[in-house]
Amino acid sequence: MTHAADPQVSTELPGPRSRALLGRLERTMYPGLRHGLAPFVMARKHDHVVEDIDGNVFWDFVSASASVPFGAAPRSITDAAVDAMRRYGLEDTHGIANELVAPLAEALLQVAPAGLTRVDIALNGTEAVETAVRFMRRSTGRPIVIGFMGAYHGEAGTAGAAGAEAAELSSGYRALMPGFVHVPYPNPYRTPFRPRPGGTGDGTIDYLRDHVLFHEIDPREVAGVLIEPVLGSGGCVAPPDPFWPALVDLCGAHGWLLCADEVKTGFGRSGTLFAVDRWDIRPDLIALGKAMGGGVLPIGAVLGTEGAMAFDDLSTGSTWSWFPGACAAALETLRWLREEPVLENVRALEAMALEELPGMMKRHPSVGDVRAVGCFWAIEFVRDRETKERDLPMQERVAREALARGIIGDSSTTSYNLQPSLVTPIDVARRALTIVGEAIGASEEAMRA
Ligand SMILES: Cc1ncc(COP(=O)(O)O)c(C=O)c1O
Repeated sequence: MTHAADPQVSTELPGPRSRALLGRLERTMYPGLRHGLAPFVMARKHDHVVEDIDGNVFWDFVSASASVPFGAAPRSITDAAVDAMRRYGLEDTHGIANELVAPLAEALLQVAPAGLTRVDIALNGTEAVETAVRFMRRSTGRPIVIGFMGAYHGEAGTAGAAGAEAAELSSGYRALMPGFVHVPYPNPYRTPFRPRPGGTGDGTIDYLRDHVLFHEIDPREVAGVLIEPVLGSGGCVAPPDPFWPALVDLCGAHGWLLCADEVKTGFGRSGTLFAVDRWDIRPDLIALGKAMGGGVLPIGAVLGTEGAMAFDDLSTGSTWSWFPGACAAALETLRWLREEPVLENVRALEAMALEELPGMMKRHPSVGDVRAVGCFWAIEFVRDRETKERDLPMQERVAREALARGIIGDSSTTSYNLQPSLVTPIDVARRALTIVGEAIGASEEAMRA
């Protein structure tokens, strides 16, 4: 059955007008920018619907890397941002506070996990992570931060070195950026570890304790652990339940700070306001960004305990951090999350995805694993379910076939990821998964031929 308003792609991709503009872009801009570019140029976007300049209509299941929580340019958020920009223009919030700063800090702390009582300002997620790592080191006086293979924290120096999603992301400066030690993310599908008898109950924490801390680093030199509570671009991976209590115990035993990078998971994407709420974790620091600006303007923040922010000699943020328009957008975003049935819709979308995705796996042998947490969904392709050898060409092919059928998805490092806006109607999302299933079928046939 065809959905009444299915996406419609009627040209080859890119269409002729898009091809011409993409060609001009290639001739003038930094060549590295072309890698992730979709083969069309956008003309307009409303809710989840994207139209290109050749008249093709797509459905957006990437949401600007999960920065667009409520579909394109929600009227009330845009209005709030524009009003504030008209009233104040730009001001550097380090120099002159505007009347939105304190209400925004209060609104964030009101919904933050217990124990977080301080807020620092940031321009975006990258800056929030950079600042959070500095707080970890300043607060403990220790240099090393433990991160996870598979995690993404941004691409500036510190954030880039803190992450380890794909080797090429830190190529050129990994060797110049000491102070990070990575262990494999607790990935139930791919972990090389098993919990050992008499251990912590979790294989990753056993490895950290029995190997990394025994052979490689003195725990007294560790400031803390930086972790995405659910891997975002790394493929919607949630740690197994025993991981969290074992990690919290380990942090407690050595005086480490626990910093959650909720830049992508935060503001409802995981089905709760913050992903740490889902597992009842109480971090010392949280880095925020992306959806905080309602998909309208950039803004980030670091939330911390009194202890993690008990000094005033770190200079943080940058000129545009918490500029007035962004504060207004964030306040209106928080109002949406408080007053509109957003989280209910995320939970319904998750339930629908958990119904649909296993069927996809049953029908398609190239699918090795499927995952859904809130509005993060991932499909991982393998050459062989036994060996779990990754099949990135299949993933790329599926992404192309899905796009040709009008679904904009994210072919990421390890999986094909779908991250709809949090208010996407259930029938639209279900139909999108059906179309992705058709794309997988067509790709399997083509790859077999
Ligand atoms: C978990 C996580 N942290 C930090 C960042 C960096 O955020 P931004 O690129 O918006 O500055 C990202 C971006 O994708 C992210 O996914």
